[in-house]
Amino acid sequence: MRIESTSPSLVTFSLFVLVGTLSIEFCNGDLGSFASSVMKPGKAKGQGKDHKEDDPKNLGGLKMKFYESSCPNVDVEKIVETITWKHAGANPSLGAKLLRMHFHDCFVRGCDASILLDPSTKKDSPQVEKQSPPNLSVSGYEVIDEIKTRLEKECRATVVSCADIIALATRDAVSFQFQKRMWEVPLGRRDGRISRASDALDNLPSPSSNFQILRDAFAAKNLDTRDLVALSGAHTLGVTQCGMIATRLFNFTGRGDTDPSIQPAYANTLKAKCRGSFGTVLEMDPDGNSKFFDSHYYKILNQKKGIFESDAALLTDSFSASIVKEFEDDTKFFAAFATSMVKLGGTNVLTGKNEGEIRRQCRFVN
Ligand code: HEM
Ligand SMILES: *[C@@H]1O[C@H](CO)[C@@H](O)[C@H](O)[C@H]1NC(C)=O
Ligand SMILES: *[C@@H]1O[C@H](CO)[C@@H](O)[C@H](O)[C@H]1NC(C)=O
Repeated sequence: MRIESTSPSLVTFSLFVLVGTLSIEFCNGDLGSFASSVMKPGKAKGQGKDHKEDDPKNLGGLKMKFYESSCPNVDVEKIVETITWKHAGANPSLGAKLLRMHFHDCFVRGCDASILLDPSTKKDSPQVEKQSPPNLSVSGYEVIDEIKTRLEKECRATVVSCADIIALATRDAVSFQFQKRMWEVPLGRRDGRISRASDALDNLPSPSSNFQILRDAFAAKNLDTRDLVALSGAHTLGVTQCGMIATRLFNFTGRGDTDPSIQPAYANTLKAKCRGSFGTVLEMDPDGNSKFFDSHYYKILNQKKGIFESDAALLTDSFSASIVKEFEDDTKFFAAFATSMVKLGGTNVLTGKNEGEIRRQCRFVN
């Protein structure tokens, strides 16, 4: 409906993307090999004194052990972890898929599982979030469904929200390679009843965003520059397609030119890959690194190999650039990512009996 409110290039890109294949599996490497370099995970609080954190608005009444009384004698977090790890073992791209799902969910109407809602079967009903162009490669819906079905059975009641399941499964899928939980997930989110494609377009920054647009988009969610840089580190995982960067590579200012902020040799490599088809899959963190959750994204960013303008933009502000440098260190990055994920996961959450509902099925409102 509100296509005109987004940047024309994003819409064009999305059309390219739809043509491409979305089911490329490209990880069959050893997932365990990175676990050795891990620091203490899950220390959500007390990191970084320069961090505008612990803002109550962002935790929004969430808490640990939220389901202890409503689903007694069941380890809800363990169940989510077991199912998620089963799938993550078989599908190494699950971490990327769920991380993107969680980000989109939280940026659009808060972390309320609005991204999970299927379109209504009623004629002429408006499009839902998952149908909007920025959805692109979001997937992993089946894993969420499986977890939900299991928890309905274990708890003998509808108590665990779909929004909490997304937050937990995301943490667990990313944590799989480390075989331990990388951040804490305070719980108690309730599920929203509204999902609108136009909200996704209005709230999700486009990959052609400059620094100021990104900073403002994150600030609108109570996330500061340090959160922006830390959360952008999610682009150490996963893939995109040539169509998403076609303008950057082939027609940056409309004169058949290339974005000068990409390292020239890397730009040539990308152009060679993309000339054949805009559906060609590209790793966001190149050279086989997109399957590992680590600080490598910041290293390639400093080599001017960030895939999107929105990645490269993190170097155009001196404070942001200093954080990019800091996060080249795994320990610093993991700690900051943990802090920022807790904040992201608290974005405009619905809590308390009067807000939202606990869905019986994640794809439909009750
Ligand atoms: C800073 C603004 C951001 C922009 C403009 C942005 C944009 C994008 C775009 C355009 C893609 C490619 C999608 C596709 O080709 O289908 C992508 C992929 C991805 N994004 Fe972001 N993103 C941003 C921040 C984030 C954040 C905060 C997270 C999570 C915390 C995240 C997680 C991911 C992941 C994991 C992928 C790879 C998905 C896959 O492999 O399927 N992004 N992002
Ligand atoms: C994503 O959005 C496109 C429209 O831009 C739609 O055709 C596609 O089905 C959507 N994906 C999902 C999973 O709904
Ligand atoms: C490049 O951009 C210009 C200006 O937007 C446009 O007129 C031209 O058709 C584009 N070229 C290609 C090959 O898409």
